[in-house]
Parts: sequence; C-alpha cells; structure tokens
Amino acid sequence: MKLEIVTYPAEVLAEPCRPVEEITPEIKQLIENMVETMYEDDGVGLAAPQVGHGIRLITVDRTGPSERKDLRVIINPEIVEREGEVDSQEACLSCPGFQVKLKRSERVRVTGLDADGNDVCIDADELLAIILQHEIDHLDGKTIVDRAGRLKRSMYEKKVKKWKK
Ligand code: NI
Repeated sequence: MKLEIVTYPAEVLAEPCRPVEEITPEIKQLIENMVETMYEDDGVGLAAPQVGHGIRLITVDRTGPSERKDLRVIINPEIVEREGEVDSQEACLSCPGFQVKLKRSERVRVTGLDADGNDVCIDADELLAIILQHEIDHLDGKTIVDRAGRLKRSMYEKKVKKWKK
C-alpha cells in the first residue's frame, strides 16, 4: 500500500526518532509500504518519519524506481565512519519545490540491521553515501530545509505558508 508523504514543517519531521526494539509484523508491513511508496513517488530513499512514524528505519535504492536493482532496508542505521567532503545538490519528497546545495561526507560506513534483523555494514560512496546521510538526517529530525541557510529557509517557509492558505 502506498503511504502518504508527510511534508515540511510537520512535527514528526522535526523530532529525533526512537530506535526499533523489535521487528514485528507491523514493522515488516511498514517496510513493504515504504518501499512501494519510495518507488511510486520516484524517490531514491525514504525515512519512516516521512510517512508519519517516528522510528529509526530507512529504505534506499540508488538505482531508482525504473531499475530497482539496489534496494536496502536499514533498521537503526548509524554512521560509524566518515571520510572526505563533497558538494551535493539535494531535493526531498517531504520538501516539495525545494532544492539546496549541501556539504556531505564523501564516504560513509553505516551499520544497522536488515529487514530480517541481520547485522549489516555498508561502505558507501558517491550517490549511495549521500542518500544514506540524507535519510539518517531525517531520523535525527533534520530535513534539507533545516540544513539550508537562514534566508533560503525563510523564503521556503513563506512559500509553504502560502500553499496552505
Ligand atoms: Ni528527504
């Protein structure tokens, strides 16, 4: 089932998420729905708070919805190592109409659990490294709007307020 994407400035996007304690049938169902939602909405990554759940869970596929060749589900993901710095032009399903250039680490090592509860350790670079940092930011209550400069952020906030009228 495709889920509705929560958009900025929803509260669930601004709060640190809690760890997943147990992989219940509900969590498995949520994972399935998140993967479907990510592909349907043409995304390369999705974090649980973006569909209204304040838990540490992300889905990622750097190859996108047309290829679907590198799906990763990571529960309680954690960046344990970073290296280098790159500029990254980013957009987010939860921040429609917003794009920003950010500094990201060039390479990251991410640990966590897969959908079956097995330990995973991912050494990522290029696009995958960027996506992982973007999605893990969501779990810490940070969107790309929060990471943008003050002026860019306040302009977007004005735009969003106008949409809601
Ligand atoms: Ni995002």
